[in-house]
Amino acid sequence: MDLLLKGGWVVTAARVEQADVAIKGEKIAAVGPDLAAPGAVVRDVTGKYILPGAIDAHVHYQMPTGDLLTADDWFTGTRLAACGGVTTVIDYAEPASPGESLTEALTKRLEEARDQACVDYGLHQVVMPGQEEDEAELRAVVEKGVTSFKVFTTYAQRLSLAAISHLLQQARRLGALVTVHCEDHEIITAKREELIAAGQTDPAYHAASRPAEAEVKAIRDVIALAGEAGAPVYIVHVSTGGGAEAIAAARSKGQQVYGETCPHYLLLTESQYTGPDSRLFLMCPPLRTAADNESLWRHLAAGALQVVATDHCSYSRVQKAAGTAFYNTPSGVPGTETLLPLLYSFGVRNGWLTLPQLVRVLSTNPARLFGLYPRKGSLRPGSDADVVIFDPRRQVTLTAANLHSAAGYTVFEGFHLQGYPEATYLRGWLIYDQGCFLGQAGQGRFIPGRV
Ligand code: URP
Ligand code: ZN
Ligand code: ZN
Repeated sequence: MDLLLKGGWVVTAARVEQADVAIKGEKIAAVGPDLAAPGAVVRDVTGKYILPGAIDAHVHYQMPTGDLLTADDWFTGTRLAACGGVTTVIDYAEPASPGESLTEALTKRLEEARDQACVDYGLHQVVMPGQEEDEAELRAVVEKGVTSFKVFTTYAQRLSLAAISHLLQQARRLGALVTVHCEDHEIITAKREELIAAGQTDPAYHAASRPAEAEVKAIRDVIALAGEAGAPVYIVHVSTGGGAEAIAAARSKGQQVYGETCPHYLLLTESQYTGPDSRLFLMCPPLRTAADNESLWRHLAAGALQVVATDHCSYSRVQKAAGTAFYNTPSGVPGTETLLPLLYSFGVRNGWLTLPQLVRVLSTNPARLFGLYPRKGSLRPGSDADVVIFDPRRQVTLTAANLHSAAGYTVFEGFHLQGYPEATYLRGWLIYDQGCFLGQAGQGRFIPGRV
């Protein structure tokens, strides 16, 4: 045995128990009371939680949009992940031009990540208009370990509902999961034109420009298509109570619909758009109301939403400052590093989630949905030894100066937390310990998903 974590509380998707964890090489070797491990390094974790590493299933590291690139690249993005107890991230392979094939885009993205990533990673494949027709390419991507497709109902890369329906059918045959950014393009376009005509273009109008009904309608449309296709579907970054309710209603009828939300939709409201730093809070879909926050917590607690991810998309302070209107301010915020501690402080400590639920929404469910389980998202013997030692007593006030994103800000500045990751192990390697990053570029591996 190489490492013995002794005296902690082991938290899994099913239970919390006082137990030791033994690690041999890169794998969990044993979990149980009073383990003996002659020759192993022993770490006393009395009073701490031992959690499976968190999975941030929605990140955009070094993402190009026009002439801009998000501030966190594969190195800084995955370094900050390690510092926040996140041991696997799932980013996107997106064709850069209409002519680029899915497999070309995937090869390029894997190449970008290979020598830079400090934690393990998977990819979702973005499917551009027309590419849903190419069964051979879709199949090739799945065979390379990318088992989820991503499409948009808005933005330039949007697919028509007919095209999304076609992709859902292809995905069902391949055993892949279609993930969808849901905002109705017609509603957003009409609203945007109305606001521009009225001279209401300040970033303060961002939430008004992308109303809740745009998300709810798109979610309902996509759920209907998935039902007709008999295919599972996953809705990314649900921001509205209405969207969560549509997912819950479909699930209660037995449909395989999954929903993800993000800490900013659980904890922040559109009131941020009236402040001086409104641009920093601009992301799509926008922040909503306190009633939406509460509804999202309720649906997460009830299991109607299964995943919390961050949509880490770190346009920097400087890039954001160049925005003069809601439609030209770079959209997206950093988040991976604060995912686990925010969900613990505001989810578990506020009574919305139990500790096993925390593990489910941050580790086990994304691992299962994206074909990584039980290698990831589990502490059972044979799983990768991706482990977080979490100190439930440590008090931290979040501030960008103590975080590691190149964005230079956090939308959770000043939030008081109780409970913070103390150490992170990636496949048995200590990559973060008490404030110090100890990992290295290239240490992270691509983890192929399996259908
Ligand atoms: O504003 C956001 N969320 N930017 C990232 C891209 C996306 O829509 O997820
Ligand atoms: Zn999106
Ligand atoms: Zn995103």
